[in-house]
Amino acid sequence: MKGIMALVLVLLVMLSFGGSSECRKVRELENSLKYFAMSCRAHNASITDFGGVGDGKTSNTKAFQAAIDQLGKVAADGGALLFVPPGKWLTGSFNLTSHFTLFLHKDAVLLASQDENDYPLIEPLPSYGRGRDGKGEDAFKGRYSSLIFGTNLTDVIIIGQNGTINGQGASWWQKFKQGELKYTRPYLIEILHSDHVQISDLTLLDSPSWHVHPVYCSNVIIKGLTIIAPTDPISPNTDGINPGLFNSEVLA
Ligand SMILES: *[C@@H]1O[C@H](CO)[C@@H](O)[C@H](O)[C@H]1NC(C)=O
Ligand SMILES: *[C@@H]1O[C@H](CO)[C@@H](O)[C@H](O)[C@H]1NC(C)=O
Ligand SMILES: *[C@@H]1O[C@H](CO)[C@@H](O)[C@H](O)[C@H]1NC(C)=O
Ligand SMILES: *[C@@H]1O[C@H](CO)[C@@H](O)[C@H](O)[C@H]1NC(C)=O
Repeated sequence: MKGIMALVLVLLVMLSFGGSSECRKVRELENSLKYFAMSCRAHNASITDFGGVGDGKTSNTKAFQAAIDQLGKVAADGGALLFVPPGKWLTGSFNLTSHFTLFLHKDAVLLASQDENDYPLIEPLPSYGRGRDGKGEDAFKGRYSSLIFGTNLTDVIIIGQNGTINGQGASWWQKFKQGELKYTRPYLIEILHSDHVQISDLTLLDSPSWHVHPVYCSNVIIKGLTIIAPTDPISPNTDGINPGLFNSEVLA
């Protein structure tokens, strides 16, 4: 176990949730898939419906974004669940939508692309005013978007049967230490300015930087996450959960 930090977050539940009820939808295709989620969805689809290929090599960035753009259209009609089946799903950054659930099968692994071009530059957080990693002028201009990013959303869920999101952070850590990064490294999951957010039942590995970063959000449930990264300084700043300024109460 040398050099390995395993952080098991069994239950971090936020309270002011009111009548959150259990969602026990069964997807026939996946013999009795049961899960706890704060919202059920009227529609569902699989990433394979959008040309996704889980071979660990094919880029699925476009498939994810196409799926989410399409499923975003039924947000007002009961929302949608996007199912990620067993496999290794290589992807760059993609954006979430409202009334949406991203569901990872237990044998599904999202593999984060190691190509910087797969992470669009977004504005630095107002609370920092600049990126944390970059140097000089560029640090003020932007930062890499998270692998999974969402802003100004309502009712968004990222959940699995302990499926995995692997940030493949080693190349980022290396570049960071050698001062080769112009912009701040991506996080694994970042949600900004959103209400009713659930992130649960996942294993998060080797993020380029922080693993989960909900900021300016309310009504957040984070539970059942296993977060694993080598110890700093091998993987600098790979904090598990770094909640910024949310007006939700987190119980450890
Ligand atoms: C998911 O979609 C499939 C195919 O359209 C459908 O047969 C199934 O009933 C749906 N399940 C849920 C939970 O909506
Ligand atoms: C996600 O949204 C942000 C801002 O809303 C945008 O800058 C970024 O390019 C989007 N990312 C993708 C992959 O489309
Ligand atoms: C998102 O919400 C914040 C805070 O309410 C607001 O300042 C910002 O303009 C919104 N952004 C978009 C793209 O709607
Ligand atoms: C999820 O998977 C991780 C890594 O394999 C393991 O350490 C953890 O115990 C699992 N959690 C649950 C609830 O099965």
